[in-house]
Amino acid sequence: MELFDFSKQDAKARHTRLVSEIRSHDALYYNQDDPEITDSDYDKLRKELETLEAQFPELVTPDSPTQTVGTVVSEGFTKITHSVPMLSLGNAFEDQDVEDFIARVRKFLNIETVEIFAEQKIDGSSCSIRYERGKLVSAATRGDGQVGEDITANIKTLQNVPLTLPDDAPDIIEVRGEVYMPTASFEALNKQQAESGGKIFANPRNAAAGSLRQLDSSVTAKRNLKFFGYALGKVSAPIADTQMGIRETLQKWGFDVPSPVALESDIQKLLDYYAHIMTIRADLDYDIDGIVYKVNDLALQERLGFVSRAPRWAIAHKFPAEQAITTLNAITIQVGRTGALTPVAELEPITVGGVVVSRATLHNEDEITRKGIRVGDKVRIERAGDVIPKISESVEHAKDSKPFDFPTTCPICGSDAIREEDEAVRRCQGGLICDAQVVERLKHFVSKAAFDIDGMGDKVIRQFWDDGLIKSPADIFTLQERDKKSLTRLKNKEGWGELSAQNLFEAIEKKRVVPLERFIYALGIRQVGQATAKRLASHYLTLNNLMQPLDRDELMAIEDIGPAVAKDIIAFFAEGHNRDVLNDLKEQLVIEDYKPIQTTQSVFTGKTVVLTGTLLNMSRAEAKAKLEALGAKVSGSVSAKTDYVIAGEDAGSKLKKAQELNITVLSENDLLNI
Ligand code: IVH
Repeated sequence: MELFDFSKQDAKARHTRLVSEIRSHDALYYNQDDPEITDSDYDKLRKELETLEAQFPELVTPDSPTQTVGTVVSEGFTKITHSVPMLSLGNAFEDQDVEDFIARVRKFLNIETVEIFAEQKIDGSSCSIRYERGKLVSAATRGDGQVGEDITANIKTLQNVPLTLPDDAPDIIEVRGEVYMPTASFEALNKQQAESGGKIFANPRNAAAGSLRQLDSSVTAKRNLKFFGYALGKVSAPIADTQMGIRETLQKWGFDVPSPVALESDIQKLLDYYAHIMTIRADLDYDIDGIVYKVNDLALQERLGFVSRAPRWAIAHKFPAEQAITTLNAITIQVGRTGALTPVAELEPITVGGVVVSRATLHNEDEITRKGIRVGDKVRIERAGDVIPKISESVEHAKDSKPFDFPTTCPICGSDAIREEDEAVRRCQGGLICDAQVVERLKHFVSKAAFDIDGMGDKVIRQFWDDGLIKSPADIFTLQERDKKSLTRLKNKEGWGELSAQNLFEAIEKKRVVPLERFIYALGIRQVGQATAKRLASHYLTLNNLMQPLDRDELMAIEDIGPAVAKDIIAFFAEGHNRDVLNDLKEQLVIEDYKPIQTTQSVFTGKTVVLTGTLLNMSRAEAKAKLEALGAKVSGSVSAKTDYVIAGEDAGSKLKKAQELNITVLSENDLLNI
């Protein structure tokens, strides 16, 4: 242990400072799912606090972060008191720390060898799920370790959490584990959030925590969260006598468990397992941040017990953050579709955790100022798991370096770049005269959720733009016509042959007929993602209606459209260049008017239906939409006027009332069948 050369007074001052820093980081991490520092920097603060307290034990207070877990639960959720506290784990960073752990365990138990179960440490959000007589009855977050938040409805939306357990399960059993978001789902979510102007999550763990703590469980249901089981809370009867046994039983009951695991008594073998998992880490579809070693024998765990916030029988061996130091050669500015100026760090290429990194995003101008980053600096690059590399700090300024002057004009078109008061980004005001914005808009226009033209990706758009073949969206649809007439045919261009040119033309032809909502989305109006595009289509029905002067109040009456979005929509349709583009496109395309969902004749046509209980295969909102499409009127309460009640799991008073009134009760399956 590194000892401090502190006077008592200095130690106290440092202690107060550390406690307050750790608290504020805890609040950002646990309550806002939005940490400000890296995990390894956080771990360093904690380690410093622990070392300081070991040297000056009189500084330890019951509410020191070393004595508590997590942070206070936030408002908004019902609280659940854990029947067995949910604890945290001590950390090991070096091999020596692992050896010390094993030595402590052996000494405590006074035994020669101890079998250790080793497993991946999942970087998600921990949760305790309680089953009574085989049925899932509640689920809670860790909270402060004693009291967590009731997230039962949200946990029930997870596809890989069993809602029931087999008959051999004890009457009461709490399964503990980690809720996580698969990496691919995380990337898709952030992309979608960026399009709709929603919150961007820093990493899959924050995304999982944020998605789990939604007051509306239909939001959670859409987030593809998953669960790994790895421990138990309260149990009314033992289900195994080893950690390995718990794992096997959980797996048998239908829980996912992380794999592979190791069972070893030899320290070197455990360290080999740690090294092995590091090599496969990048291939996993979830984030892990280390290995957890647990004494395998549960009777020994019992004897070992706990110290303050962590068990004596387990420890987390953390992975080092993959980092490296390199030179920041330049800061370049990228201009996006909506004109946002994004600073990009151009780095002296360097390998970080097996990947060569030569660029990293700097997010926005405040980030550069906050981190004091200057061109020429030696900077620290960090890659946490699979996440995009970022600059964590500037370690050394270059001689004669100056703070970065963020441009106030667009580097591409020279127009003013303005930062609105409530915005973090500066935007080029050039609109359609800005090449960068136009090219980005073209890329968006042909992207998957928009026109989705096969074979026309970013590179092709760039090539055609550079060659002057495509200047505006309508040019895409005159490409073949012009190609026929021109002397330099596409098939003679670099990278193109007869067949590829023909395929592209066919792919374009296929997309000449387009539904209004897709068309609106393709226009790339600021803040108008797929959902808003659909709402606009369903309200205005035709493009011509949208091209009439738009009424602000009418727009704002549409769900999810506020003043800022309304302003952007009005500005887009009023702008002269945009109207030219729209008129050109109208000549090339068949833009299908919005078709309101047709109601089909069914047993539900004209009937009043009430939904109750938890549906397993769909959200309430989805069931309601389905019923309405079948012609039903969906009501919230059961009365003599009710024709059908659809009862999901755990239906209560409404079901009872329906039975009393002799109303036909259908199951979720009945609804699905209809
Ligand atoms: S065992 C008494 N196993 O990491 C706690 N925990 O940073 C026993 N975690 O609080 C926990 N993966 O929420 C265990 N395979 C794993 C884990 C794991 C992630 C979490 C757990 C713990 C936290 C400590």
